[in-house]
Amino acid sequence: MKITARAPANIALIKYWGKKDAALRLPLSGSVSMNLDKVYTITTVEFSPLFKEDQVGIGGEKLGEKESQRVVKHLDRVRKMAGVDHKARVETKNNFPKGTGIASSASGFAALTLAATKSAGLDLTERELSILARLGSGSACRSIPDGFVEWVEGNSHQTSYGRSLYPPGHWGLVDVVAVVTKEEKKVSSTRGHSQADTSPFLAPRIRGMAAKIKRVKEALVAKDFTSLGEAIEAEALNMHAVMMTSVPPILYWLPKTIEIMLAVQRWRQEGLESYFTLDAGATVHVIAQEKDHLVLEKKLSKIEETKRVIASPPGLGARIVKDHLF
Ligand code: DP6
Repeated sequence: MKITARAPANIALIKYWGKKDAALRLPLSGSVSMNLDKVYTITTVEFSPLFKEDQVGIGGEKLGEKESQRVVKHLDRVRKMAGVDHKARVETKNNFPKGTGIASSASGFAALTLAATKSAGLDLTERELSILARLGSGSACRSIPDGFVEWVEGNSHQTSYGRSLYPPGHWGLVDVVAVVTKEEKKVSSTRGHSQADTSPFLAPRIRGMAAKIKRVKEALVAKDFTSLGEAIEAEALNMHAVMMTSVPPILYWLPKTIEIMLAVQRWRQEGLESYFTLDAGATVHVIAQEKDHLVLEKKLSKIEETKRVIASPPGLGARIVKDHLF
């Protein structure tokens, strides 16, 4: 059966950096994220006895060898669970241009997990889908449930998954994403995770994670924007400090990244309250309240050489959609 799914990217408010089990993608700590309604992947999957090999395309072109292997590995997991051995055709499309520095592995593996399992005849629960998506890419487990999501750290395959804390409508926040380069990052997050433990700052970071998650969850309940903002900005800097001090060091920032981070802090002093956060890349995510996002979008667009600004409210998780890509 041909099935198509759509899944959002997510921005981590409290981040996942470092794994305690690389094969199972079990994280060293829990994390909390917000799905991005306006940044998503659509994927169509069809298993058929007529296909001689797996075919994986993106935006109408053949996916690169390494990325394709990762997708096929995920299809193998689905085949094993469903007890089928048919080959599949997979076509995928991001609604954001490739290479803009917005992570696509979370939305990509979440959409693939939902479409492939349904297409293979499985009917998994949200938790089962999240667990399976995690094996494709850790952060993908947070793109399955709706809205604001917590990845429960867990200590085994079955106990590590994303669960919704609140639906998208809980709080009118906006993530104003400022894309500063069209080049792909040089160090993949998978490689970055694998060397996190070479940083002398990893251990103190991990010790502080439970308290940070608690603070962010409290800010989400109370809709306390200042508390949330201060926590997430500090958290992003903390994770990047680990990246920069690992061996070899990873520096994801570009001059524009720093310019925008400083501008956000300056605007805040002038009364426009917003806070930045960054995942593994140069792209800056500016978290704002609904009432301020248009002003912020304008200001960010005016920063010279900013490639693109995309504003996104919180979004639903992975969903089946009707229109197929082939
Ligand atoms: C910095 O989920 O991309 O965005 O599991 O190796 O695919 P893999 O890593 P990935 O790591 C994301 C790291 C991060 C923080 C986060 O999203 O929590």
